Amino acid sequence: MGAAVETPSMPEECRVIDPDTYFDHNRPPANLQWAHDAVAAFVGRQGSSRPIVLVTSGGTTVPLENNTVRFVDNFSAGTRGSASAEQFLELGYAVLFLYREQSLQPFSRQYSQRSECIFDYLRPDGHGGVSVKAEYTAKMLDGLTKYEKYKPQLLQVAFTTLSDYLFLLREITLILAPTGARTMLYLAAAVSDFFIPSHSMAEHKIQSGAGALTLRMNQVPKFLRPLVKNWAPSCFVVSFKLETDPELLAPKAKHALEKYGHHVVVANLLNTRKWQVWLVTRGQDPCLLQISQEQLLQGHDIEQDIVAELARRHREYTSAGALANASADAALAAAP
Ligand code: PMT
Repeated sequence: MGAAVETPSMPEECRVIDPDTYFDHNRPPANLQWAHDAVAAFVGRQGSSRPIVLVTSGGTTVPLENNTVRFVDNFSAGTRGSASAEQFLELGYAVLFLYREQSLQPFSRQYSQRSECIFDYLRPDGHGGVSVKAEYTAKMLDGLTKYEKYKPQLLQVAFTTLSDYLFLLREITLILAPTGARTMLYLAAAVSDFFIPSHSMAEHKIQSGAGALTLRMNQVPKFLRPLVKNWAPSCFVVSFKLETDPELLAPKAKHALEKYGHHVVVANLLNTRKWQVWLVTRGQDPCLLQISQEQLLQGHDIEQDIVAELARRHREYTSAGALANASADAALAAAP
């Protein structure tokens, strides 16, 4: 199975493979070449000063069969990612939105809630056509107007499985790497920590006649490590940390920062994530961002606060990089 990062005494199936080995053993998604070309063209159209953000959103699936009928999924609906993408667009960013197919998307997310149907917003207009019900018109018009306005600044790339996500993440960050400090990587997707390697998976639908099913899943390597170190070392990297046990959240967020050496961890708890998050940075106390239940009911998304604060920190990071480059250039120019 290639290089492993755990002790050699461990049984092979318990070792965590290294990220390159993961790519050698799994198939790239069908949209990889399309995504490469589309992202390269999109980045090329942004000129040299517009800030860029890659927003990852939604959950990855983990197939149980190569001809997949069943898979393991997670709870993420893509609310955080899609709401954040809207905020970045409004702040002037070019947004690459890497999202789970059929999860929530910027500006249409209010109309994709699972309990509702698009027809609930419409009515026959009496002349053989369709119109929006009066009570929804203002809100829909606002969403549609923003969508039309920001469409040229937005490129959406879909994934479904863990493997699709990882191949696309690597491809896109490698294309973004030369844009350096001007680009933020905002990794809000809920990425699986466990998978079944393709060669250990059932080829065809697992048969129920065989009785109870026992699954053995391998650990997925943490892709933040190569992303920060090798794929896009100058970009501003924000990862997310989700826990259910409040005691674990702060120590694990701090540990992630130390381990991967990136810039910010947005720490959140499953049950309070819509109104409370902490921004964790090295050497500083965690910064709590919180909105009230009243604000939430009035339609204020906490992503407005998260994105505003991160964009501010990103500007500082970009200016610090520009200053460092200017002094290096000045030193070069002054050299005999
Ligand atoms: O979509 P919503 O319903 O709005 O929910 C939003 C959210 C709770 C999913 C989001 O706010 C969030 O916390 N996303 C990260 C969830 C997660 O995967 O946490 P983690 O602790 O398992 O991973 C931490 C970081 O490591 C993540 O940035 C992830 O991209 C990265 N990771 C994870 C697994 C893996 N194999 N490699 C990784 O690099």
